[in-house]
Amino acid sequence: MSLSLRSLVLCSALLAPAFAADPIRYLPATKTFVLDAGPVTYAIGVNEKGALQPLHWGGRLWRDGDFAAARSSQGWASFDLSATTTPNEYPGYGGGLFVEPAVKATLADGTRDLVFQYQSHEIKGDTLIIRIKDISYNLEAALHYKVYPQGIIRKHTVITNRTAAAVVLESAQSGAWHLPAGEGYRLTTLYGRWAGETQMAQEVIQPGLKVVESRRGNTSAQANPWFAIDGPERATETSGRVWFGAIGWSGNWRLTIEQTPHQQVRVTGGLNPFDFSHGLKPGESLETPSFYGGYSEHGFGEASRAFHRFQREFILPGGLTSKPRPVLYNSWEATEMHVDEAGQTELAKKAATLGIERFVMDDGWFGARNTDKAGLGDWTVNPQKFPNGLKGLISNVKALGMDFGLWVEPEMVNPDSELYRKHPEWAMHFPGRPRSPARNQLILNMARDDVKEYIFGVLDKIVSENEIAFLKWDMNRNASEPGWPEVAPAEQKKMWLQYTRNVYEIIDRLRAKHPKVEIESCSGGGGRIDLGILTRVEQVWTSDNTDALDRLKIQEGYTYAYTPKAMMAWVTDVPNFNGRSTPLNFRFVVAMQGSLGIGNNLNKWKDEDFTLARKMIAYYKQVRGTVQTGKLYRLASPRAPEGFAATQYVAEDGRQSVVFATLHSQQYGRPVPPLVLRGLDEQGVYKVTWLDGRAQTLSGAALMRRGLTLDLKGDYAAASAVLERQ
Ligand code: GLA
Repeated sequence: MSLSLRSLVLCSALLAPAFAADPIRYLPATKTFVLDAGPVTYAIGVNEKGALQPLHWGGRLWRDGDFAAARSSQGWASFDLSATTTPNEYPGYGGGLFVEPAVKATLADGTRDLVFQYQSHEIKGDTLIIRIKDISYNLEAALHYKVYPQGIIRKHTVITNRTAAAVVLESAQSGAWHLPAGEGYRLTTLYGRWAGETQMAQEVIQPGLKVVESRRGNTSAQANPWFAIDGPERATETSGRVWFGAIGWSGNWRLTIEQTPHQQVRVTGGLNPFDFSHGLKPGESLETPSFYGGYSEHGFGEASRAFHRFQREFILPGGLTSKPRPVLYNSWEATEMHVDEAGQTELAKKAATLGIERFVMDDGWFGARNTDKAGLGDWTVNPQKFPNGLKGLISNVKALGMDFGLWVEPEMVNPDSELYRKHPEWAMHFPGRPRSPARNQLILNMARDDVKEYIFGVLDKIVSENEIAFLKWDMNRNASEPGWPEVAPAEQKKMWLQYTRNVYEIIDRLRAKHPKVEIESCSGGGGRIDLGILTRVEQVWTSDNTDALDRLKIQEGYTYAYTPKAMMAWVTDVPNFNGRSTPLNFRFVVAMQGSLGIGNNLNKWKDEDFTLARKMIAYYKQVRGTVQTGKLYRLASPRAPEGFAATQYVAEDGRQSVVFATLHSQQYGRPVPPLVLRGLDEQGVYKVTWLDGRAQTLSGAALMRRGLTLDLKGDYAAASAVLERQ
C-alpha cells in the first residue's frame, strides 16, 4: 500500500463514521475474519483445530498482512489443556475447558461435552454470521455480528438443536470479549440499590472470576449490565485504552469478568445461568440477547461519547431524527396517590405557566388505589376521582397547551384487587407455598400468554380511548417464588426468559399500533435501564432519589453507560430524600444535565420560585438540543473530595456548548479553580452567557487552555453558561 493510500485509510479510520468499502471481510489465506467498526477492528481466526480464536479487539488495523493464521496454544503441563489456554470466541463446555463457557448443555444421551468447530459463514455488508457446530452432535451456534461506525460491535447467538433428540441448555451466553493478553487491567462497574442507582465501582482485575448479575427478573438497580475495562497503564477521562460493553436484556443477565491463569482477561455475558434450564426440542432454537462491545483509545470520556452517539442513532426509537425530550411535569412527589380531576387540573394550570410541555399524572388514578395497599391490576379509571373519565383532565391539559402522560404498572397486582380476586393464579407462585408481597404487591407471571394478552388489551384500551402521548411504565418490585405451575416442571425455568420476551412483545405491539405514544421505563427508579429496553422506550426514570446532591453521582455513573438524552432528571421539593435542602437553582442546574422534569408541589411555591423556574426552563429549552444530543465532557467528578462537579456538552455541529457546575460546600475560603473546557474549536470565538446574565467573549484556545473563571462560593452553589460560537 502506498504511503498516501495508507494515510488515507488511517485517516478515514480515525474520522469515523466513514466506513471502508467492506466493513467485514474474510481472509481465506489465514482464515481470518476482520470486522472494522469505525475506529475499531475486531478479528477472529479459525485455528488449526477448527476453533474460533479471537485475535484482536482494539484500535483499527489496516493491513491484512498483519493477521497471521490463528494457532492454538499448547496446554500447561497436564492440568490446563489447550482448550483452557487458547482463547476461544464462543467455547462450549467440553474438551477440557476450565474457563467460563459460552454454552453448557446436556444432550439426550447424557453427554455433557461440547466442542465447537467452524462450519460456514455469511457476510452481508455490516453483518457477519459464523456457524459453528459440535464435533459430533448437530448442536449448532450461529454467531451474529454487526459493526457500527462508532466503534461498537454487536454480538448475539442463535443456538439450534439439529439433533434428533432433546437438548437441555444450562448456560447460553451471548458472547465473550477477550482483551489483549496481560494483567493489571482495571474493571469499572455500576452498582446500587433502590434510590442509589448507577454508583461506580473500580477494582483491579485479579485472577479468578467476578460475577456481576441480576437474579431479580429485571435489569435491577443492584447492578447494571455494563462494564468498562481500562488498560494496565490506566485510562483517565481524556486518555488511555478503554474496552467496554453492555448486555441488551431486561431480565436475568450475567457478566463474568475473568482473568485466567494464563494472563487472559475475558468477559462473558448473556442470560444468567442461575436458575436457568432451557430445553430445546429437535429443530428448536434459542436466541440470546445482544451483547455490545466498544473500544476507545482516548479514555472514558470518548468511550461514553461513542456509546451515547451509537445509542441515539441505533438504539433509541426514532434514531437521530427523534424529537427532543419535552420538559415534563410529574405529579408524584406533589400529590402521591391523592389525585383527582380538580387537583391535577390545578397543578396543570400552574405547570403550564412555567413552559412545561407534557403533564404526567402518576399513580392513584385507577381502581381502589388510594394507598399502595389496593387497586394494582384494576386499570379502570376511578369514577370518584375522575367523574369524566380521563377525558376531562386530558382536555384541560391539552387546552393548556401540554400533552398528557399517564403512569401504569402493568406487571403488578395487589392481592386486594378485582384482578387478583378473579385470577389469583396469575401471580407468580409455587402452589401451596406462601407468596411474598413487596410494597403490598405481587408480580404477575408475564410468561403466561393469557396474562400477556390481558395486559396488552388493558393498555391498548387506555391509549385507544384517550389522547395519551406518553406512558410511564413502572415495575415496583422484583420476582420471588418464580413458579409457573401451568407448564411441566422441566419447562418452568423458562419463565425468566419468557417473562421478559412477553414484556418486550407487549411494548412492541403497543408501539406498532400507537406509533405516537412515547414510553418511559421505570422500576422504582433506575431498575430497568439497559440497551434492550432502550430500543423500545424514549427515556428512563433514573432514580426515585431526587436529592440533587445524590443525583450528581447517580447521573455521572449513568452517563458512563447511557445517553443523557434518555436520562430523566426532575427538580423536586426540599427537604428531600436525605432531609437535605438545596437551593432551587442548584436543583435546576443538576436536573438540566439530562432530560428535564419538574416534580414539585406547585401549590406550595412562592412567586419567586415560579419566576426562577420560568427562567430556568426557558434557558433549558435553549440548550436542551446540546444536552440531549451533544457530546458530553465530564470535567470534574462529583466523586472527587473537593465537592466540585462540572459537565460540559458540545453540540454535534460545534455551534453551541453548555457548562454546568456545582459546589457542594466551600471550605477554607478556597476558590474553585478555573474550569478548563474541552471539545471546542481553539480558533473559534465564543460568546459566553451566564445564567445570571453576565456575558463575555473568549476564544476556544483561552477556554480550553486557561479556562472559565467560576464564581462559586458557599454551600450548594451552582452556575451554568451557554457558549455560542460567533
Ligand atoms: C415508583 C416510581 C415513582 C412513582 C411511584 C408511584 O416508586 O419510581 O416515580 O411513580 O412508583 O407509586
